[in-house]
Amino acid sequence: MSENLLRGKRGIITGALDENSIAWKTALKAKEQGAKFVLTNAPIAMRMGAIQDLAKQCDTIVIPADATSVEDIEKLYAEAKEYLGGNFDFILHSIGMSPNVRKGREYGDLNYDWVHKSYDISAISFHKMMQVAEKMDIMNEWGSILGLSYIAAQRVYPFYNDMAEAKALLESIARSYGYRYGKLKKVRVNTISQSPTKTTAGTGIGGFDSFFNFSDSMSPLGNAPADACASYIVMMFSDLTRYVTMQNLFHDGGYSFTGISEDIIEQFKDK
Ligand code: NAI
Repeated sequence: MSENLLRGKRGIITGALDENSIAWKTALKAKEQGAKFVLTNAPIAMRMGAIQDLAKQCDTIVIPADATSVEDIEKLYAEAKEYLGGNFDFILHSIGMSPNVRKGREYGDLNYDWVHKSYDISAISFHKMMQVAEKMDIMNEWGSILGLSYIAAQRVYPFYNDMAEAKALLESIARSYGYRYGKLKKVRVNTISQSPTKTTAGTGIGGFDSFFNFSDSMSPLGNAPADACASYIVMMFSDLTRYVTMQNLFHDGGYSFTGISEDIIEQFKDK
């Protein structure tokens, strides 16, 4: 069913690594809704090759860019603008990585060089993508820029490690840049706080399966799948959400506002 919610819109989609990626599903839905976009990922992710298959399906190209490099982002935007034939209406930042998480360092034994890397890749890159966009004046009025977050930005999830601070920073950048970009050019900036999702980034977090199941039991609607997140992203890129900005939007089946569920109570009955 095509409704062409994004007809005539152009943009950038980062972070499609494989078919489980939230960005991968977003690209397919954005295409279905009439958008034109360029895909990008870190040069190292290109080696896996899967993103080229997605590009074929979406009838587009892939431009490698390390999101921590201002030069790479400048080059990405310049080439994408030429390929797409104009400025952008949307940018998806779907990027996250913590070397501390990946290498199993505990929160009380962090490697600080890696902490900087976690913040740079997972949060500051969001600022970089917007600052370069502003300087190149590459966004159209009423454009929409989105990042993806997790509730560990507000509450303690011990296994989430230094990614918790990275997400808190990401959400803060969305607010601060959202104000600035709104004033400057009526561009809106938001984060979507997504349920645990079975992707490479998600399953890399310690104890993922347990907290995936816990979260599913806590949410009246169950965990929100990646496909549904992609639909939400498409709606946020569409003209139907023009006045939503500087928000952290929970897309989590009701998890964030549930104190406790019957399912969880049941498990503690005889303790
Ligand atoms: P994913 O592993 O498919 O995507 C993460 C992407 O970040 C990959 O494509 C990776 O190549 C890219 N990336 C890493 N370093 C980069 C760099 N220096 N430059 C450019 N790209 C780089 O996993 P997923 O889950 O689709 O992640 C997308 C976003 O959603 C991330 O921000 C993640 O933290 C967030 N999120 C994920 C949840 C989950 O449970 N999977 C829950 C809530 C938020």
